[in-house]
Amino acid sequence: MSAIILYATLEKIEMQDSFERQIDYLRISITDKCNLKCIYCIPDKQPEYFEKSEILTPDEIIRFVHMAHKHGLMKVRITGGEPLMRKDIISIISGIKKIGIQDLSITTNGIMLADMAGALKKAGLDRINISLDTLDARRYSNMTQGGNIQHVWEAVNEAERVGLDPVKINIVPIRGVNDDEILKFASLAFDKNYHIRFIELMPVGRNRRFKPDACVKKSELIEKISSLGELVLLEFKGKGPSRNYRIKGAKGIIGFISPISDCFCDYCNRLRLTAHGRIRPCLFSDIEVDIRTPMRNGISDEELEALFFRAVTVKPSGHYFSKDSRPFSAPASMSKIGG
Ligand code: 5AD
Repeated sequence: MSAIILYATLEKIEMQDSFERQIDYLRISITDKCNLKCIYCIPDKQPEYFEKSEILTPDEIIRFVHMAHKHGLMKVRITGGEPLMRKDIISIISGIKKIGIQDLSITTNGIMLADMAGALKKAGLDRINISLDTLDARRYSNMTQGGNIQHVWEAVNEAERVGLDPVKINIVPIRGVNDDEILKFASLAFDKNYHIRFIELMPVGRNRRFKPDACVKKSELIEKISSLGELVLLEFKGKGPSRNYRIKGAKGIIGFISPISDCFCDYCNRLRLTAHGRIRPCLFSDIEVDIRTPMRNGISDEELEALFFRAVTVKPSGHYFSKDSRPFSAPASMSKIGG
């Protein structure tokens, strides 16, 4: 494993990992709590949550982002759990935006968003991803163990109205659960500039109860969706896991995030920060670097920087889903790490 290579651009130091991937994207889980309990994410009726004292404060999050920004961090996504459950969400967003992060987004289930969209936009939020796995009200309530889909549509409309666009909708198709809605979801992109993103079900935590064939792969999705019209592949800008297409004549975009069938580790540009303050360089590796304990013990900015460099350096080359001979380690729960 080679050392981190740092090189100066006009005004910043950029960060490369041991495999020459430029690391400029951080996903921050700010809580492991969620107001829904999606069957594939939090199947337990009584999930265990971190204590409040274990969770990073806004100041701790902002301190870390500020340091990482000096080393080329450009893009931040806030995740959870459900990030809008944090009462201090607005100060987290405005604090991060003030640092100068170019692209600041949130992934939310949308249940609480309608009332908060305007304030979030004003605080500096650029974009929003809404998790929505079914278009049917009763199925939504079942899949989320109690959610009301009406709130999600109010959130979509309000997000558009206040300019949090394009609205991206994440769907995880699961065979036998919601895979009969693939065309309905894809059709949403005809009249509106929605980005509909189909995410392959990953073998995380308790959802390992779903058999491997519950995951609906990209090739199958493309075959199905092609029945709606020609799917035109859009230019790949070399960043991010989504492969984007447009159905000819449609306003919106159809994206595929395919960690199982089309591993994107070679151009992975991200780190994760968990709600309890561990930098996690790869979703599917147990490697974590604790920054919360040292920060609470008074480390200097240089020491914090060194922890960040260490996390970048130990980022694995890939997660080896498809390489049977090499083990991978699935996290206990997506809601603890941030999806
Ligand atoms: N596989 C794929 N996607 C998942 N998500 C949560 N758990 C999984 C999983 N096991 C998705 C959520 C959300 C995003 C943050 O991650 O649906 O849209």
